[in-house]
Amino acid sequence: MKRTKIKDVLLRTDYGSDVNVRGWVRTKRGSKAVSFIALNDGSTIKNVQIVADNERFDEDLMKLITTGACISATGELVQSIGSGQNVEIQAKEIEVLGTCPADYPMQKKGQSFEYMRQYAHLRIRTNTFGAVFRIRHNMAIAIHQFFHDKGFYYFHTPLITASDCEGAGEMFQVTTKNLYDLKKDENGQIIYSDDFFGKMTSLTVSGQLEGELGATGLGQIYTFGPTFRAENSNTPRHLAEFWMIEPEVCFIDLVELMDLEEEFIKYCVKWALEHCKDDLEFLNKMIDKGLIERLESVVNTDFVRLPYTEGIKILEKAIADGRKFEFPVSWGTDLASEHERYLVEEHFKKPVIMIDYPKEIKAFYMKQNEDGKTVQGTDVLFPQIGEIIGGSIREADYEKLTARIEELNIPMKDMWWYLDTRKYGSCPHGGFGLGFERLILFVTGMQNIRDVIPFPRTPKTADF
Ligand code: 4AD
Ligand code: MG
Repeated sequence: MKRTKIKDVLLRTDYGSDVNVRGWVRTKRGSKAVSFIALNDGSTIKNVQIVADNERFDEDLMKLITTGACISATGELVQSIGSGQNVEIQAKEIEVLGTCPADYPMQKKGQSFEYMRQYAHLRIRTNTFGAVFRIRHNMAIAIHQFFHDKGFYYFHTPLITASDCEGAGEMFQVTTKNLYDLKKDENGQIIYSDDFFGKMTSLTVSGQLEGELGATGLGQIYTFGPTFRAENSNTPRHLAEFWMIEPEVCFIDLVELMDLEEEFIKYCVKWALEHCKDDLEFLNKMIDKGLIERLESVVNTDFVRLPYTEGIKILEKAIADGRKFEFPVSWGTDLASEHERYLVEEHFKKPVIMIDYPKEIKAFYMKQNEDGKTVQGTDVLFPQIGEIIGGSIREADYEKLTARIEELNIPMKDMWWYLDTRKYGSCPHGGFGLGFERLILFVTGMQNIRDVIPFPRTPKTADF
């Protein structure tokens, strides 16, 4: 008999029909006479209850139906009174597809997330991770839908690159060279001419530079792909491999860019509220009691728009009034996560879009303001998360851009193709990058970024 997904079975009302479901046993309980099996197949957070009269089934078969076992069950769809669902299945045939011995690591309830991370290959079968990864899928769909509806083109940028977009030097090298026998020139520099690409290459930290090339032909594009950062940050917000969404838009100014950032995040959160109701209700109950309320509040509030200089004043006043921070703040310093969270969670109590940062703490490509000190960068700061988006209007002036590149000692000859966009028909443009996992953290209420990507890569861990 053809299998029906549990999600669909739970919506059916044609009682008396036979159905077949297949999935993994969550629990089995019961009496001498009857067993109740809660079955889940990943199609929904909800289980279907299978009722088996024990006399109808072989005792040895019933013994194999343990938590974690994979079974196929066929039976009659009946209206249910006690199971929390409208329907249950009165079993006629049960086949054990895969037994599950008692040492199954996901057997016990209430294991810590640290523990479950060691079993990233099996944690996907739990309620929490099922919910998280269904939401992750839905967010990816929402993102494509948002940009497609607005006429953005999905543009594929390379993962292997010879340039460091953010200029932070946090790149993983890509090479086929024999690392045990590296040839060096007379200055002790590694010779790359005989390497696979004939030059030094790395995994990309951002698709932005190539995204700008796309936008300056197609008008507006977005990327959505993996990015890699070899920053040695062991925090609940950093991954060495994460996914980023980077729209790039021509003929946009700073206010329009902020509007786009705000509209985009609200769209994604609203999508989750509409399409992931069951999973969010589960997470709200089990993980974070304030989750749904927080999501609704973000959809319904205007984000604060705050120049960096004003933000520093607020923080300095807080310190003068006795608020303690671990790191110092003054004009010119990069904000630490605690400062960002103070502004968002304590001072304004809503998301903040911070703009006009000192040029020294931002990347070379940001548009320089008239004051000669600040650039048109925007960071979107979120409750619980801190920075969720980083973006800017780009410097479109050839002279100013090359001057900045020189100032920062970025090798100009490697940037010729990027500079060509400013040389030939330069246009005002801007864009931003949203960290996909940071969005998922916010939408799920999970606390650690390692728990919203199936197989996290962080310093000293690359299992699975
Ligand atoms: O602020 P970032 O470094 O900006 C860029 O890469 C720009 N090129 C984006 C652009 O303008 N097109 O990174 C953008 C976002 C951050 O706001 C954060 O959400 C996320 O990417 N992010 C990380 N997420 C997880 N782990 C890390 N190590 C991350 N680093 C940045
Ligand atoms: Mg940033």
